[in-house]
Amino acid sequence: MSDHVAPPLKPEPLFNKEDIEKRVGELGVRISRAYHGREVVLIVILKGSVVFATDLMRRLVDVDVSVEFIQARSYAGTLSTGSVHLTLGPEKPVTGKHVIIIEDILDTGRTSAAILDNLLQERPESVAICALIDKPSRRTFDIRADYVGFTIGNEYVVGYGLDYNDRFRNLTAIYALDQGEA
Ligand code: IMP
Ligand code: MG
Repeated sequence: MSDHVAPPLKPEPLFNKEDIEKRVGELGVRISRAYHGREVVLIVILKGSVVFATDLMRRLVDVDVSVEFIQARSYAGTLSTGSVHLTLGPEKPVTGKHVIIIEDILDTGRTSAAILDNLLQERPESVAICALIDKPSRRTFDIRADYVGFTIGNEYVVGYGLDYNDRFRNLTAIYALDQGEA
């Protein structure tokens, strides 16, 4: 399919605005309890996690939050974590900090594994992973999220920050691509 043609979406959202708001609120409560009164660095993975992260951070109560951004590019065709290149890293080292990596989707796990490896070199006090969406059936790297918004099967989803060729990030609900009946 050409980059210029947006593919069709299934008409009914997989998760609507209310589902997302409720679930993000629940994650906020859990994370606020776990990190009560502590300093936490949220590491937001560009670009897909931006919408999720901005909602989630406003649901954190009695947590001393700071925010950093990372951009990771992965190169297709190889299965080594070495193929993920970080084009933007945390501005300040996370040494001795509690860190939460905010991911849009944990798919094969390659991106998160590479980011985790990278951050661990700075010796943070702790690292947790929070993923809006988990696709456990797709995992090829030994990595799991500590906090998960929604668990789905092997379908491609867009909206609420998630893209297909950089499209659809602005949708307020999460939709599956309509790939026809296989
Ligand atoms: P991983 O390194 O295989 O875990 O891939 C993670 C990245 O692939 C995510 O952060 C997304 O940017 C992208 N990705 C994987 N599945 C989807 C999807 O269903 N919709 C949108 N992006 C996806
Ligand atoms: Mg992406």
